[in-house]
This record gives sequence, structure tokens and C-alpha cells, in this order.
Amino acid sequence: MSSQILEGKRGIVFGALDEQSIAWHVAEKCVEQGARITLTNAPVAMRMGKIFELGTKLKAEVIPADATLTEDLDGLLQKSMEVLGGKIDFILHSIGMSLNVRKGRSYTDLNYEFMQKTFDISSISFHKLMQCAYKQDAISDGGSVLALTYIAAQRIFPDYSEMAESKALLESFARSFGYHYGVAKKVRVNTISQSPTWTTAGSGVKGFKEFFDYADKMSPLGNASADSCADYCVVMFSDLTRMVTMQNLYHDGGFSSMGMNPALLNL
Ligand SMILES: NC(=O)c1ccc[n+]([C@@H]2O[C@H](COP(=O)([O-])OP(=O)(O)OC[C@H]3O[C@@H](n4cnc5c(N)ncnc54)[C@H](O)[C@@H]3O)[C@@H](O)[C@H]2O)c1
Repeated sequence: MSSQILEGKRGIVFGALDEQSIAWHVAEKCVEQGARITLTNAPVAMRMGKIFELGTKLKAEVIPADATLTEDLDGLLQKSMEVLGGKIDFILHSIGMSLNVRKGRSYTDLNYEFMQKTFDISSISFHKLMQCAYKQDAISDGGSVLALTYIAAQRIFPDYSEMAESKALLESFARSFGYHYGVAKKVRVNTISQSPTWTTAGSGVKGFKEFFDYADKMSPLGNASADSCADYCVVMFSDLTRMVTMQNLYHDGGFSSMGMNPALLNL
């Protein structure tokens, strides 16, 4: 029996910008586990990042797509099915960006045009992706769709700002679309709620070092790395989790269940 749990599977991985990106690690592990994938990112990220380097390393075609544009998503799905030779078995949505955070606006002084763009990029893109796939019937029966999220959807982390609402919306789309895709095609839709991780998107949040260190001390297992997040994604893409859907799955070293940890007190 093969030890590669994604052998024969075809996938699309969004959001690998550089080696720090969580998606970069996921792409590497998926291929290590026998999958064939395409990589995608926004056209602007193609110029700034290192995605072509990863594409060459993994022998994966890189297909530009702005995740806020349904025509780009339609093209990406079609091209991926062509290149990989059939329907898609798994998709990782690993996209997040807040214009208000980037521009340093405080939560009590948000710009609403920025906010709409933030939601469009970070959350509505997930619905668009699934709707495009659903209409094209691009995902195999029993396929698996994942998006990455953060616990600020449930608890207050003041500097996370409007990204908290973005993540709440993202998680809700996973549940709602998970129902429809489950009934129609047994496709699973889940979100993984990851520990703070040193990446371009993560470190853009004000005070990131402090809340990275805080979460690390609060969690009995410490913060989960991008590499271990990739392991979890691989399991969620595999047939071993074919009855798990519409869940927000914490991958955070235990942080989400903690109340108080003496390690954080100066007694
Ligand atoms: N880093 C953390 O602390 C942390 C914690 C929990 C969840 N997450 C989530 O993980 C996901 C990946 O982020 P990351 O930390 O790896 O950072 P990252 O900056 O490496 O990845 C974010 C990606 O989003 C892409 N993107 C932005 N706008 C896009 C668009 N219009 N179309 C397509 N792609 C677009 C960027 O190019 C980039 O590749 C995000 O959803 C993020 O919110 C991150």
C-alpha cells in the first residue's frame, strides 16, 4: 500500500507568495504526498513574490488569478482541469488582506470603501471560488475545500481590526456552502483556524510580535507552525477525513481552549 495519502489527487493552491506563506508549505506537502497541483496568486503577487520558483520546484503550473474576479476564477478552474487532466479533488484558499490595517486606520475610524475591498479579497472570494466551481462542476465528488482563518472571528484581538469580521464571514461561507456542496456532490468545506504565524500577511498586523509571543506562551503545545498547518491541510484533503465538513477546525496548540496559563503570570 502506498504511503502517499494524496496519490492521484489533483489540487489548486492559492496564496503562496514566498517561503513564509502557509500556502507555500501546503503546496510542498501536497506534492510530497503524491498530489499534482496548480499554483495561483493575484497577478501583482506574481511580480513581487517567488511563486514561479515554487512552480519550477514542484513541477506545478502557475496560473494568475485575482480571486475577487469571477472571470479569473472560471479561467483558473478550467485551465487547472486541463493541465491536471480532470476534475479537482482539493482546493486551498489562503488569501487575506486588509486595506484599513495596511493603511493604519484605527477600528473606530475605518474607511468603508477599504472595508468592502477587504471583505471582497479575504472572504467573498471564497464564496466566488466555490460558486464558480459549483457551476462548472469542477470539483470531484467527495472533494475537499479549505480556507485559512483566525480565532479573532470568535474573540477580540483589537489590532486585528476588520479582519475579525472578514474571518467571521469566511467561516460562515464555509458552513453555508458546505451544506449545498455536501448535498449536491459530497464535497467537504472547512476552515482551519491557525496560530499566529510569521508571514507577510501575519506580520502586517500591529503588535504582531507581542501577540505571537502571547499565544505561544498561552498554548500548551506552543504556536503551530506553517509546516504543521500544512500537515493538517494534507489530512483534510485526504480520504481519511471524508465525513468532516462545515467545521471550523482549530490548529493552534490548544490556545482556543485556554482560560489562563500560569506561564503568562509573573508571580
Ligand atoms: N499568518 C498568520 O498569523 C495567520 C494566522 C491565521 C490565519 N492566517 C490566514 O492564512 C492565510 C494565508 O496568509 P499567510 O499568513 O500565509 O500570508 P501571505 O501574505 O503569505 O498570504 C496571503 C496571500 O493572499 C494573496 N492575495 C491577496 N490578495 C489577493 C487576491 N486579490 N487574489 C488572490 N490572492 C490574493 C497574497 O498575494 C498572498 O499570497 C490568510 O487567509 C491569513 O489570514 C494567517
